[in-house]
Order: sequence, then C-alpha cells, then structure tokens
Amino acid sequence: MSAQLLELDGISAGFGSHRVLDDLHLQVAPGEIVALVGASGSGKSTLLSLLTGAVRASAGEIRYGGAVIDPATMGAHRPFAAMPQRDVLLPWRDMVANASIGLEVAGVPKREARSRAAELFAPFGLTGSEAQFPRQLSGGMRQRVSFLRTVVQEKPVLLLDEPFGALDAITRDDLQRWLLAIWEQHGWSILLITHDIREAVRLADRALVLGRAGEVGGARIVAEVPVSRDIPRDDRFVLDPRVPVRESQLQAALGSVHARDATAPGRADERGR
Ligand SMILES: Nc1ncnc2c1ncn2[C@@H]1O[C@H](COP(=O)(O)OP(=O)(O)OP(=O)(O)O)[C@@H](O)[C@H]1O
Ligand SMILES: [Mg+2]
Repeated sequence: MSAQLLELDGISAGFGSHRVLDDLHLQVAPGEIVALVGASGSGKSTLLSLLTGAVRASAGEIRYGGAVIDPATMGAHRPFAAMPQRDVLLPWRDMVANASIGLEVAGVPKREARSRAAELFAPFGLTGSEAQFPRQLSGGMRQRVSFLRTVVQEKPVLLLDEPFGALDAITRDDLQRWLLAIWEQHGWSILLITHDIREAVRLADRALVLGRAGEVGGARIVAEVPVSRDIPRDDRFVLDPRVPVRESQLQAALGSVHARDATAPGRADERGR
C-alpha cells in the first residue's frame, strides 16, 4: 500500500471546452505541508474544488488512504476541510456563529456546533472576539476565524487557498508562526496555495509548481522544490543559510514556467474564453 495519504493520479478537469488541468499527479503524505504555487489562472483553486467536490474530474483518480474516492458524492464524509480564497465570513453572524458554519452545514446541531467552535477561541488566540461581528475585527483576526472554521471540522487534510494573501507582511508573518505552532500540535496534512515564495518556503515541506504543459492547454505539476522539510521552522529559520537558496530555487522554477507560458502559442485566446 502507498504511504501517501492523498493522491491525485492523472487528473484532468475543466469548464466546458476549457481544459484547466491535464494529467495532473500530486501526493500528500500524512502530516506533510505541500505548497502549490503557479501563475494566476493556472488552476490552483480548481484543483481544490476537485477535492471539495465542487468540480468533477473528467479523467484520473483521487485516492485517500489508498482507496479511490469521489469527493462530489461523499458529503460530510469528505476527509478535507477547505479555507476558501476569499474572506467569506457572513457579516450578520458573530464570530462563533461564523466559525461553526462548516459544522452546521455538515449536520451538527447548532448548539453543539457553536460550543465546539467556541472552545477553540482561546487556544487560537481569539479570546474576547466570540461575540464580535466581522466588521469589528482586523483582517488578521478574520483570517484566524476563517481558519478556525476550517479546523473545527476535524478533518485530517486542510486545503488552504491563499490563507494570508490579503494581509500586510507583519500580520502575515505573525499568522505563519501561529499556523506552524498549531500545526505542530495537530499534525494535519495541509495543501497550501500561495503566491508568496517566502511563505511557501517557510511553511511547506515541498513546493509544487503548477504550469501549462505541452499544447493541450491544461496545467499539471511541472516542478517540485523541496523547501523546508529539513530546516527547523522556529526562530532559527530566518537565519538559516538554506532559506534564501530554497527561495531562489523556487523563484527560478516558477520563473521558467512563466517564461514558457508567455511564449506558448494561443495562450491569450484560450485564457479569454
Ligand atoms: N466556475 C468557473 N467557470 C468557468 N471557468 C472557470 C471557473 N472557475 C475558474 N475558471 C477558469 O479556470 C481557470 C483556472 O482558474 P483558477 O481559479 O483555478 O485559477 P487560480 O490558479 O486559482 O488563479 P488565482 O491565483 O488568480 O486564484 C481560469 O482560466 C478561470 O477563468
Ligand atoms: Mg485561486
């Protein structure tokens, strides 16, 4: 049996005639953080939608723990919890009610859902904001609550789509540290989409570059850069001489994909559809 927890094997997917992903292969091991980087529009969020069941693959297999699964038909049994790319807190719900939405949608009674969400406010550094509304909180606090909403579902795999993308550098740095500290206690497997090379190197064991391959038009994993698997991710991290090297390697891998995309014939036409 495979040692991988999650495997995408030869996945193709798209919207109508627009092929977004083509023969994509990807694995995530138990407890691993895998970063997914790639140009805007390359299909990163589409890949997550395959796992949340919002989009269905036209070819290939998704395996979890070695067994083939169809996330679109699994409902609450899906082993993934996703944090979407946009801030989706509901303005009329207080923070506890926002944090419990995922559980409520999965069928957990409202009272129980809210008390399970409320229990995480203290360990997540959110004490005092339980009864506040999204407009009363900073961007960083809102992202923490969005993350809490994802985590409270108690799934073994977290899918994070640009979790800190909209935040300033200091807040992002703060939240990266915070995420690593919480991850060390829980040991989830994480698939992390990010545009930020530093963030990918800081948080992930491996970074995968999604890019167009060949003439078909769809994207697949075109490069893999081992980033922080062997670097301690605590305060020593910023001083470790391997960090800037890994950042340059990832930047170069991403740059060569961009260069290839820019010269690919017909790109503008395909993207416009
Ligand atoms: N619901 C949809 N219907 C039709 N086309 C879509 C849909 N969602 C995404 N697309 C198209 O699929 C392609 C990939 O989009 P996707 O959102 O996955 O990119 P991304 O890599 O997440 O980009 P970004 O970094 O900007 O978030 C784009 O060309 C986009 O226009
Ligand atoms: Mg996206």
